[in-house]
Amino acid sequence: MQAISLFNLSRQIKPLQKAFTQVFTEVLAKNEFTYGAASKELEQSFAKFVDCRYALAVRSGTAALIVALKALDLRPSDEVITTPMTFSATTDAIILAGAKPVFADIDPQTGNLDPKAIEKVISKKTRAVLLVHFAGVPCEMDEIISICQRHKLLLIEDASHAHGSTYKGKKVGSFGDAACFSFYPSKAFGALGNAGIITTNKQAILQKASMFAEHGLYGEKYKHALVGFNEKIDNLQAAFLNVKFPFLPAWIERRLEIAKKYQKVLSAKKVNCSFWPDYAQPSLYVFSIFSKNRDKLSKYLTDHGVGSGIYYPIPLHLQESLKFLSHKKGDFPQAEAYAQSTLSIPLYPELTDEEVDCICDLLKRYEF
Ligand SMILES: Cc1ncc(COP(=O)(O)O)c(C=O)c1O
Repeated sequence: MQAISLFNLSRQIKPLQKAFTQVFTEVLAKNEFTYGAASKELEQSFAKFVDCRYALAVRSGTAALIVALKALDLRPSDEVITTPMTFSATTDAIILAGAKPVFADIDPQTGNLDPKAIEKVISKKTRAVLLVHFAGVPCEMDEIISICQRHKLLLIEDASHAHGSTYKGKKVGSFGDAACFSFYPSKAFGALGNAGIITTNKQAILQKASMFAEHGLYGEKYKHALVGFNEKIDNLQAAFLNVKFPFLPAWIERRLEIAKKYQKVLSAKKVNCSFWPDYAQPSLYVFSIFSKNRDKLSKYLTDHGVGSGIYYPIPLHLQESLKFLSHKKGDFPQAEAYAQSTLSIPLYPELTDEEVDCICDLLKRYEF
């Protein structure tokens, strides 16, 4: 059996190469390189997919977060509660939008913000909660929405890991004031480069985010209402995403099918691994195994030709970039324990049954 890498984008891209070439030629013919018809088509289909009224396609997940947060008119004294177990883009965006990130610890089973921990850090300065549906598992939305309503907080979803995940039958990306998705190539729905999208049911947020994404333009060329960025999506990336879009539901299903196979093997051995509550139907981004000695497990897998990775090795409160928040080891023990023990194994729809069985056999034979 050939080596099984953690990701294998070629397998997804190859069968679609003809279709990619065709849309590339179409965009070339129209000379429509920046935000254009393909971008609007992507916005319409993604908004419908998430069951939201509006979508704004932008140049990355990071851009989606920055522009969505800017649209909330945050002030420097405002605090935004978020999770330390995420990619740095989540907190970078809060800071770049002009506010202060405040961490709350996670639920050790799901890796998501713990609603009880959110309540503990709410202060007079709290303006918003920015949650992350970590690894594709939806957060406990009923509890978080109720907290936000009680304390009059805005709610933003970072759904960069969760394209198509549902909570009690409703797609994530439609719960908060706005939601942000990354279309980074390795994501469950990825472009052939950087791209992202904002979804919202609020027209005012859409309009403001759209202005921030295009130098404050409000309809007429060279009329700027506010100081903004140049962050609308490239039309080519949107055209590539439109090619992939019809396959997304089947890809999500296949990811879940594979994850359930891993879960069955690991739960028989009483090994903690990716978990989702009954309320969730996740579009899983990564599948994690939790092991005190993950280096040994990683080496074992490598020795048998199977790739693995860590999402994420350092919780954000311990990052050099956020030193100014004055956190120390021990501040968020659940996030720290998660970061120290998590190891992700291959999870992509193009894995063959034979490869999945091979990984399952390796896990069965391993002494945890
Ligand atoms: C949780 C999360 N938020 C935001 C981002 C930023 O997305 P992008 O890389 O498209 O800017 C990522 C990217 O990996 C992410 O994992």
